[in-house]
Order: sequence, then structure tokens, then C-alpha cells
Amino acid sequence: MCGIVAYIGPREAYPIILKGLKRLEYRGYDSSGVALLDNDLRVYKKKGKVAELEDSLVGKDLHAHAGMGHTRWATHGEPNDRNAHPHSSSSGRLAMIHNGIIENYAQLKNELIRKGYKFVSDTDTEVLLNFIEDIQKNNNCGLEEAVRIALKRVVGAYVIILLDKESPDTIIAARKGSPLVIGIGKGEHFLASDASPIIEYTKEVVYVNDYELAILKADELILKNLGNEKLTPYVQSLDLELAAIEKGGYDHFMLKEIFEQPDTIFDCLRGRLDVTKGTITMAGIQQNIERLTKANRIIMVACGTSWHAGLVAEYIFEELCRIPVEVEYASEFRYRNPVIHPGDVIIAISQSGETADTIVAIEKAKENGAFILGVVNVVGSSIARISNAGAYTHAGPEIGVASTKAFTAQLTVLTMIALKVAKEKGTIDNTRYMQLLGELHSMPEKVKEVLKLSKPIEKLAARYKDAADALYLGRGYNFPVALEGALKLKEISYIHAEGYPAAEMKHGPIALVDEHLPVVFVATKDSYHEKIVSNIQEIKARKGKVIAVITQGDEIIEKMADDYIAIPESDELVAPILSAIPMQLLAYYIGVAKGYDVDKPRNLAKSVTVE
Ligand code: AGP
Ligand code: GLU
Repeated sequence: MCGIVAYIGPREAYPIILKGLKRLEYRGYDSSGVALLDNDLRVYKKKGKVAELEDSLVGKDLHAHAGMGHTRWATHGEPNDRNAHPHSSSSGRLAMIHNGIIENYAQLKNELIRKGYKFVSDTDTEVLLNFIEDIQKNNNCGLEEAVRIALKRVVGAYVIILLDKESPDTIIAARKGSPLVIGIGKGEHFLASDASPIIEYTKEVVYVNDYELAILKADELILKNLGNEKLTPYVQSLDLELAAIEKGGYDHFMLKEIFEQPDTIFDCLRGRLDVTKGTITMAGIQQNIERLTKANRIIMVACGTSWHAGLVAEYIFEELCRIPVEVEYASEFRYRNPVIHPGDVIIAISQSGETADTIVAIEKAKENGAFILGVVNVVGSSIARISNAGAYTHAGPEIGVASTKAFTAQLTVLTMIALKVAKEKGTIDNTRYMQLLGELHSMPEKVKEVLKLSKPIEKLAARYKDAADALYLGRGYNFPVALEGALKLKEISYIHAEGYPAAEMKHGPIALVDEHLPVVFVATKDSYHEKIVSNIQEIKARKGKVIAVITQGDEIIEKMADDYIAIPESDELVAPILSAIPMQLLAYYIGVAKGYDVDKPRNLAKSVTVE
């Protein structure tokens, strides 16, 4: 996701755009740029934050009454100057900014290259822009018509905004899958990814819908569908305050990011998982599939929540690919003298891609000839760059210090990689393979079901917010989820919590159990179910308070638990994607109930770039 702003009207466009971009930097901050249009079309852009762009523009000609700006969250092409938006068309006549992913950009790019087009960037955006210009030339039509024709061939998500040097009084925008708000002023119009850049100028807005095109002049807004039919804009009055808008109306970024998970998991699967064809398309994995299938051993290296994702992946890879897996804390791995063989594959997992311990662990493994696969969220980050190959999680910027949507995106990507390797290796039969593809495909909808439980979980949190300690227990694929739940509680509510394999609790921690100790069981229906029922009985026998995350319809545990959270049925191998969410919500609501800053918990940083 990225931030976009545009303006057309009597005011100077640049100050409006710049301030708007700063308000949208939470949506992405790899690079930024502006295009300004009056008697000429000027594009200024560079890698880095908006403030760096601002500094670089001192002394430049910034006068214009129409313009647009973009602060990028890269999906295709590293964060650098040439991949920054706005992009210019080959002729230089058009400029465009884009939020989203064009899934069929490679095919379109090949067609354009065959026609002699050259590209200066690695982005999917530049491909779409030249595709539009090519249509305009070949059909000898106006820009609006060319955009409509082009978008009928585009697969993916977009908001695009275009400026045409030959039409300085017009801005064209279109939307499918990414957000676009139009601000209606008096003789002026604003466009943005959300209302935060608009609200100080006007509260009258139009939320553009999918497959709609907007043609804006200072004093005219025309809305059409891709069939060139005029639509009546539905004008609403904003009643949100600025701060709330940046958080999408949620109280905290953490809650917003928890609720983004149906979309972020969908974005993670987008362009990769095809349940009808039974394919998983991941170029970085495909190009190295032989090395992965022949790996003697896989070593997962990560920290914190990402380490928990590695633990889940250990169960998944060993089950599906029959390759031995070890999961290492990066900080321990780097200081040991680990035995690493050239046939080993390191999977480095990191949201930020900047965690110092993980970076050094990777470099150590590389020195010993290991192959590095990076599973990272931030495109072009250090870990992405030093890995031999990788797959991005496409979860968008994660602002809350506690990792939530990145975790479920990591699990989704790791499961797809394991399925690809197992399929290639022949260690999975087609029925099981297709069944698991279907399970992944159903995740966004099932996550929505889990999120409907937020209010009951908020009530549950109120009952346990004063606990001094907590125990989180799980088995199999849910054991790492128990660890993750304990970590979330610790870092958000400062309550001491420990995660354990449920059976391990008998070897010591059960001594902690009394009528004051809440014990959270991650106990969704799986092959360990009857064993975990016994573990719950052992806790109940010692008057422990049992909170259980269970599968809908599990009447056995429903009757045993003091409280339960029933989530949709799923295969045990992908259950952690769902069972992690009640863990996130429980920690969030306890933290809020205790009055803490859940987005910036004490002592923590979003990315630990120091040792
Ligand atoms: C998780 O909620 C914490 N913010 C922390 O444990 C985090 O997962 C860890 O620092 C690793 O960060 P990374 O994924 O960016 O490498
Ligand atoms: N896919 C485009 C790029 O990588 C836009 C990404 C975004 O939404 O910021 O530049």
C-alpha cells in the first residue's frame, strides 16, 4: 500500500500535496515524489522519506495549480530514485502514480518491449502507464478512453492518478481494490488514499468504488464506470477527526492491523495461489526449487514473533517436505559456532528486514556456503538484499510495535513455499495438496469470522486484565501459537506470561497452577485434541482458570473451560493463521484495559536494528 495525494484548483498545489504525503507516510515510506502541472509537467522524486524530498526541492520551480504526490510502499522494484513514483510515460507526455499491484504486468511488459518500448524502472506501474499510452497512440483516442480500455485488461489492484501535459486543467483517476477518496471543495478538488490530507480543506467527500473512473477539473467532477456510463457521485460528510482517519477509524494501529488481516492474507495469496489451476506462482522459489528440494536441512533463523512463525514452519516443512528443520534464535545462532553445510538452506524470517541479529546470522551462514531464502515484509530491506532469493509477505507497513498481520502473512508465505517444495519433491499427494490450497484460499473469509469475536474477547480481557501471570499452552502446530500469545501479552500488557508445549507443563510449570493463574489453551480440533483435553483436566484439577481457543462445535472443551473462544474449523496445518488472532485481540484488549500505549509499548522498538 502507499499514500497518494492530488489537487486541482486555485491554490498552489505543492504545499497541499506535501502536507498530505506527510499525513500518509504511515502507509509507506520507501520513496516519494510529486508531479506538478501548469504550462509544463515537472516530476520530482527520490528514495527516502517525504522530508528528504522536501529538502531536495528547495529552489525548484514548484508553482502549479494541479499536481499529485506519492509516498511508496514498494511491491515491484527496490526502493530507489528510479522506482519512485510518479512515473513518466515514454513520450514524457503523461505522469502517473499508483497504489496497488498489477499482477499481469510481466505479460504486458513483454508485449510493450516487443513494440520497442524501453523501461527506466522495475515497477509494474511504469508498465501500466506505457500500456495506456500505447493504447492512446494506436487507437488515436483521448486519455480517458485509453485508461478505460487498458483497465479492462489489467489484473490486480490499483488506484491510479494521471496527469497529461496536454490537458493541464484535468486530472484522471481510477480505482479497483485500493482506496481513493475525492474531496469536494469550492472550485477545487482533492484526491487521496484516505481523508487525512483532505479533511482540513473540506469534509465533503466521495469514496470512489471499484471499476470507477473520475475525471476532475477545478470546478467539475465526472464519475464514470469502465463502460463509459456516467455515475452520480455519492457525497458524504466526514465526521472523523484527523488522527482517527490515519488509523482508519480504529483506536490504535495495532487494532487496525489486526483487522487488516483478511486483506493482507488475500494480498499475500494474490497473484500466487490459483486454486482452480492448482498452482502456486512464486518466481524466487521456482528459480531455486531444485536447491530447496535437495536441501539436506532447513534452518529457520529469526527473532521474536518471526521466530514463532519459523517454529510453525518447522512442523509444516517436516510434515510436507520431509526435510529436517531446525529453528534458531538469530541472536544465539550468530554467536555459536554452528555446523553449517553447503547443502543447507537458511530461511530468514523478518517483518522489518532490518533486525541486526538476523542480518548477522545470515552473513555467518553465507560465509559457510548456505543458501539464504528471505521471507520479508519490507521490500528492498537489508535482509531482502542479502538473501539469495525470497518471497515478500505483502502485508503493507506494520506500524504497531507488536507484530500481528506480518505474523499471519509469514505463515501464509511459508505454507505456500512448503507446498511448492513438497509438490516438486513428490512428498505430497495431489489430493492433500489441492485440499491445502483450498484451505489457504479460504483463510481471508475465515479470518473475518474470527474477527467478529472481538467484542466477546474484549469482555474476556476485562476479566483477566489484573492477572499477575499467565500460562499459554498448545500442542503441535498450535504450540508456537501459545508462545506467540504469551509474547503478545507480555509486550502489550506487561503481564508476565509463558508459553509451553501443553504436555511439558507437567514437567515443572504445573507447580505454578492455582485458582489465580489464567491458563490459555490453544486447542483447536487437531490430531492432538484428546491429549490436550487431558492437559486441561490436569489444570482444572488444580483450580487453574482455563481460557481455551477451540474449534466451533467442540462441546467437550466448551464444558471444561471457564471461558472459550470458538473459531472456524480448518486443517491443523493452517490453523495457526486463525488461532493467532484471538491471541492478538486478547493481548490488545488487556493492554487497552490497563491504559497502556499499545502501539508503542514501553522499552520496545518496532525494529531492533542493534544487537
Ligand atoms: C513482535 O511483536 C515484536 N515486535 C518482536 O519480537 C519482533 O517480532 C522481532 O523484533 C523481530 O522483528 P522482525 O520480524 O522485523 O525481524
Ligand atoms: N506496485 C507499485 C510499486 O511497487 C505500487 C506500490 C504501492 O502501492 O506503493 O511501485
